[in-house]
Amino acid sequence: MEKWRGRTALVTGASSGIGYAVAKRFVEYGMNVFGCSRNIQNIEELSRTVRCGPGSLNAIKCDVSNEDEVLAMFAKIREERGRLDVCVNNAGLSYGEPLLSGTTDKWREILNTNVIGLCICTREAVKLMRESGVDNGHIIQLNSLFGHTIAPRSTLHFYGASKYAVTALIEGFRRELRELKSGIRITG
Ligand SMILES: NC(=O)c1ccc[n+]([C@@H]2O[C@H](COP(=O)([O-])OP(=O)(O)OC[C@H]3O[C@@H](n4cnc5c(N)ncnc54)[C@H](OP(=O)(O)O)[C@@H]3O)[C@@H](O)[C@H]2O)c1
Repeated sequence: MEKWRGRTALVTGASSGIGYAVAKRFVEYGMNVFGCSRNIQNIEELSRTVRCGPGSLNAIKCDVSNEDEVLAMFAKIREERGRLDVCVNNAGLSYGEPLLSGTTDKWREILNTNVIGLCICTREAVKLMRESGVDNGHIIQLNSLFGHTIAPRSTLHFYGASKYAVTALIEGFRRELRELKSGIRITG
């Protein structure tokens, strides 16, 4: 992790669970981290307690399914740090809505967050990395076992479909970066 010290990361969905833990650990490794979610109280509290060398944590209120909010978040990162080195697309949700009885609104919210939000953030992350000359950046997409095998419960079928999309997107992004002869790496 030494090579990432002092560099800039974005972690989406940093207010709880995996995203919270990743954001905390990145700061402890000395990274300048932007952590976003719809409710940022936990991230703000963490930013007051976690400290390590050059590391810092900056909370941004952003719903990744809202393109205007995502663009404003990247504008803030561009303005404050002028670069991005690592992007962890962790924000994700599931409502336990079966295929035969689920509601369309909840399906849309799952797709807009787990798939469209991830795509917007990845597109903008690559744009900022490339315009700031970061050719060894790294983008990490939080997938799921259920992006590789059909979930054993009906309440996870739609969520699993969104993660199968993530599996396809990871390969699609990888191929497009390769076409550009970019050194930016993408990991699921
Ligand atoms: N935990 C597991 O066992 C597991 C297994 C496989 C995959 N995953 C994947 O790993 C990721 C994190 O899972 P987790 O268990 O840590 O989840 P979690 O504890 O529920 O945390 C999800 C995070 O995403 C944020 N979020 C949700 N919707 C958002 C949106 N539209 N815009 C911005 N932030 C949003 C939440 O904050 P707000 O509600 O404040 O926005 C929260 O910070 C997800 O992508 C999940 O699918 C988890």
